[in-house]
Amino acid sequence: MNILITGGAGFIGSHVVRRLVTNYPHDNIINLDVLTYAGNLENLKDIQDKPNYIFVKGDIGDEALVDELFKKHHITHVVHLAAESHVDRSIKDPLIFLKTNIIGTANLLQVAKKHWSGDYNGKLFYHISTDEVYGSLEMGTDMFTEETAYDPRSPYSASKASSDHLVRAFYHTYHMPVVISNCSNNYGPNHFPEKLIPLMLHNIIHKKPLPVYGKGENVRDWLYVEDHARAIDVILHHGKPGETYNIGGHNEWKNIDIVHYLCDAMDAKLGRSSGESRELITYVTDRAGHDLRYAIDASKIKNELGWVPAETFETGIAKTIDWYLHNQEWLDHVTSGAYQEYYEKMYHE
Ligand code: NAD
Ligand code: TYD
Repeated sequence: MNILITGGAGFIGSHVVRRLVTNYPHDNIINLDVLTYAGNLENLKDIQDKPNYIFVKGDIGDEALVDELFKKHHITHVVHLAAESHVDRSIKDPLIFLKTNIIGTANLLQVAKKHWSGDYNGKLFYHISTDEVYGSLEMGTDMFTEETAYDPRSPYSASKASSDHLVRAFYHTYHMPVVISNCSNNYGPNHFPEKLIPLMLHNIIHKKPLPVYGKGENVRDWLYVEDHARAIDVILHHGKPGETYNIGGHNEWKNIDIVHYLCDAMDAKLGRSSGESRELITYVTDRAGHDLRYAIDASKIKNELGWVPAETFETGIAKTIDWYLHNQEWLDHVTSGAYQEYYEKMYHE
């Protein structure tokens, strides 16, 4: 397989790249990433010299570049993760979300169609998406299934919903073999400290305020990132073209309970007195249009492909906390901006 992975320098993408490069040495992995603020090649230091791995800095919306990559590397599979991914940024500046997530995806589909059409044998376009396309649930026990109607409510989720629709349109219209997975909130190593869990860990370490939106009552379903990367591996190799798979941890938490959990775990790790970090909690103005609750029914991927999460929240968070405490340099480089010089240093000097 010659696999074009997009967004491989980001949080989830870097775990997927490492997994595929390491576990499938006979496949070629081409990582196309434009290195926005969220792209960090320090995430991939350990595998950057592997013979089956190539990094290309570039935009998924650059038709000539994507065309060239398909030609040069005889791309057979696309694993598409590149996106603008942060809801708060999408509220401030929606247009870049439309450009990257919708137009960028359309460009990848169009170039794949050009190179593959007529011979879709052994080809797959795999789009990595989010549960946020399904909208927001009330408190209770109902969950998103693969049949839940789309009802995106933020510019981010609307852009991801649009790209999902485009991917399905290429399946129905041109018979392109596609697969989509919609996953719940991820956490784990290499997570950019603008999202809830890494931001809280960073601020607890530095004794900075912990901003909790609204009353902290919103619920998210959390999945350890390595479990997501393994699900992507399983779907890439065994998923059925035309299908959608929901991925989730059956692991719902109110935000405020997560923040309390992190405060207490970090106090114990850092030898601080019990309750010290909870003092940092600061309730701030709620996010505009804040989705109340997400919850995923992941029984299809379990029943059809045999995937279940390996980590509980407790084991996954323990690994995550250890990683952030042992990788202060990564965190310092991200917060100082030094990580953005890594590409020039490693690939151009
Ligand atoms: P991320 O923001 O950490 O990484 C995104 C990556 O895409 C970065 O490396 C960035 O440089 C790259 N990128 C952005 N625009 C690009 C462009 N125009 N061309 C090429 N590369 C570009 O995101 P993430 O959290 O790793 O999410 C990856 C994918 O998974 C996204 O599609 C996201 O919607 C989806 N997803 C994320 C979560 C989550 O909890 N983080 C959950 C479900 C689905
Ligand atoms: P986030 O990590 O941004 O993921 P998403 O919005 O995609 O679910 O936010 C997770 C939850 O945490 C969400 O309900 C918003 C909330 N939140 C805070 O309360 N404070 C924060 O500083 C951030 C970043 C998020």
